[in-house]
Amino acid sequence: MRADWTVSEINDLKGNVIIVSGGNSGIGFEAVKIFAAKGAAVIMACRSLDKAKQAYESIIVDNAEADIVTMHLDLSSLDSVKKFAAEFKSKYKRLDVLLNNAGIMMMPYGTTKDGFEQQLGVNHIGHFALTGLLFDVIKATSKARIVNISSNAHKFGGMRFDNLMFEDGKGYRPMRAYAQSKMANLLFTYELQRKVDSAGLDVMVLAAHPGASATNLGREMENKAYFKFFVKIFASMSQSAYDGTLPGVRASLDPQAVAAAYYGPDSKRGMTGKPVVVASNEASQSEEDAKKLWDISEDLTGVIFDFSK
Ligand SMILES: NC(=O)c1ccc[n+]([C@@H]2O[C@H](COP(=O)([O-])OP(=O)(O)OC[C@H]3O[C@@H](n4cnc5c(N)ncnc54)[C@H](OP(=O)(O)O)[C@@H]3O)[C@@H](O)[C@H]2O)c1
Repeated sequence: MRADWTVSEINDLKGNVIIVSGGNSGIGFEAVKIFAAKGAAVIMACRSLDKAKQAYESIIVDNAEADIVTMHLDLSSLDSVKKFAAEFKSKYKRLDVLLNNAGIMMMPYGTTKDGFEQQLGVNHIGHFALTGLLFDVIKATSKARIVNISSNAHKFGGMRFDNLMFEDGKGYRPMRAYAQSKMANLLFTYELQRKVDSAGLDVMVLAAHPGASATNLGREMENKAYFKFFVKIFASMSQSAYDGTLPGVRASLDPQAVAAAYYGPDSKRGMTGKPVVVASNEASQSEEDAKKLWDISEDLTGVIFDFSK
């Protein structure tokens, strides 16, 4: 695949509606700027409306024409996800791209408002519910795309179906739980595409990862003793948030994209580089795990996707 793709190739996006979860920070913020610069109506779906407003104001300084709306979305609360979806659908009748980007990493053990382990809860379960609740608008939009942001960390550990939520913190390790949530992003992507294909719907589901990008994602580690050491190592092998957003942006808009493709940076270790299609590991291709996760996600959220035409 061509590695020389750039944002200059993105067509005019006037008339397109795009949601970016976690659009106020890091790679989500960079994606919002790119989509808005191309004329899309962009919804920044954020857990803090104050932060979203600040981010919005910093964008319109350079792009007064930007069509950006901020809306509240807390992925750690199913109630909030439901309210967001209902409010969105009362205002918009199409959704060209849903960029499921928001995430947390390396958090101490904790649970969401609905009692889910928080990294799985925010990174996967919240986005599963969001996608399902918006699916009627998505499938009604010609050539709509859903893009889930995963991570190289999906390779650091698989699904732990025997104790998915690390009940009471049993066996909990921050990286183990993060890795599981990022594996879940990929299993969800591939299973949703399979279901979309069998239903004959005009929707593409893709995944992407930003390699190692300088964002606020490590905020939870800032007070840890090893942080200074880690920051130096990370800085030496990371790229900007702008470069890190390009795999997700390319997955969202590249006309050559194929269903269920996974985009990431093209360097050998996948930490930095130009956005291309990359390989996820073998465990992420497991149809058995994907089906299991799907059923559990439906049970936990009560959200059932409607695949009818
Ligand atoms: N940076 C990297 O090197 C890297 C590597 C691999 C994968 N990723 C993935 O990239 C995605 C974006 O992360 P980032 O690096 O850009 O980090 P970031 O700067 O921390 O941005 C994360 C965004 O997610 C939002 N968020 C967190 N919890 C939320 C919740 N409960 N509800 C709604 N929004 C929530 C954050 O909101 P607040 O600003 O309010 O906290 C923020 O807007 C994540 O999925 C992450 O796993 C990043």
